Amino acid sequence: MNRRLVIRPMAHEDIESVSCIEAECFSMPWSAEAYRKVLEDDKCLYLVATLDSNVVGMCGVVNLLGEGDINNVAVTAAERGQGIAFVMLKELIKRGEERGIADFTLEVRVSNQAAIHTYEKLGFVSEGIRPKFYEKPMEDAMIMWRRRM
Ligand SMILES: CC(C)(COP(=O)(O)OP(=O)(O)OC[C@H]1O[C@@H](n2cnc3c(N)ncnc32)[C@H](O)[C@@H]1OP(=O)(O)O)[C@@H](O)C(=O)NCCC(=O)NCCS
Repeated sequence: MNRRLVIRPMAHEDIESVSCIEAECFSMPWSAEAYRKVLEDDKCLYLVATLDSNVVGMCGVVNLLGEGDINNVAVTAAERGQGIAFVMLKELIKRGEERGIADFTLEVRVSNQAAIHTYEKLGFVSEGIRPKFYEKPMEDAMIMWRRRM
């Protein structure tokens, strides 16, 4: 990749770009207002990935008493398959650990092989299935954990 990839904390100025990626990637996208709220919440850490300063992906974690709930992981379709999600999540986990998060969890659609593969590469393992967790379309969720030994 010749372009410069930077992973940095999400800022209010990023919300418009992040909302576009939400709308592209998710059937039930978060609103701009929801992002404004997490950016003002000390328990939340949200990052963006930029390529030559353009926002191409995001992810976030909510610190619940030392457990990190990861959500909103997405990379714009045009930039997938270059390792951006992997690098971004590695940085999220590093920064989360620095803030005292020991164990990380997330849910993922059972059919989402690209995401499951990426999470497994980062050390997440499936610990169960939550039936019919998702809507639009209805689908089971795999619950994954990355626990500090
Ligand atoms: C999941 C997502 C964030 C991955 O982003 P990305 O930047 O393309 O991810 P990476 O390039 O870091 O890694 C993708 C990996 O999945 C693999 N992959 C892609 N499609 C796959 C498939 N159908 N089956 C198995 N593996 C697949 C790639 O080969 C790559 O692995 P590798 O690096 O070992 O070759 C992206 O696909 C996305 O935004 N999807 C829509 C939103 C979404 O589903 N988010 C997750 C919600 S839980």
